[in-house]
Amino acid sequence: MKSLTPLVTANRLAPVPGGGHVAAMSRAAKIALAAWIAVLVGFAGWIVVDFSRTDSGAPAIGGPFSLTDQNGKRVTDADFKGKPTLIYFGFTYCPDVCPTSLLLMQTAVEQLGKDADQKVNRVFITVDPERDTPAALKDYLGNFGATMVGLTGTPQEIAAVAKAYRVYYKKVESKDGAPYLVDHSSIFYLLDRRGRFVRHFTHQSKAEDIAAAIKPLL
Ligand code: NI
Repeated sequence: MKSLTPLVTANRLAPVPGGGHVAAMSRAAKIALAAWIAVLVGFAGWIVVDFSRTDSGAPAIGGPFSLTDQNGKRVTDADFKGKPTLIYFGFTYCPDVCPTSLLLMQTAVEQLGKDADQKVNRVFITVDPERDTPAALKDYLGNFGATMVGLTGTPQEIAAVAKAYRVYYKKVESKDGAPYLVDHSSIFYLLDRRGRFVRHFTHQSKAEDIAAAIKPLL
């Protein structure tokens, strides 16, 4: 029994083979890893912040615009203030994505109640001003509820508003003589009652999710 004491003492005093050192290394490694993760997260955060916010904290997406609606009336971003707004960029000749998106917009707003289309602005801005005249927009948007606003303008005006919303669009000629198409980003922009960008959705988003995001803004 007497011989056990020195053994225990020796074990306590002597470095545990590997053990303590490994533990210390592990702690150091964890600290290094945590620091690295913080750098990565910070970097990712910086990208996100840089994408969505300006230095003043105001949204970097969106901004003032002056365009022509489907009735030929000039409207600006200020005309949409007072209600939350969903904006979508597309073109009336679009064979699939735009109609899907406009239906999704309509479905999402309908989920907020039967008179919700009076409380939420739904705005379709064309990326094809050449063909999407006010009359063409009026004809097309009649399929998506009475309160949908269609906006067009000069190519310069459309380019400016697309740039403000970071919308990509590019005319693509058809080879077989069919009407040209326009490649474009398919994004819904949700703005609050003061016209500030809140968040975005795509045509693959769920109507319920869009409705849920609009609800607190009403
Ligand atoms: Ni489209």
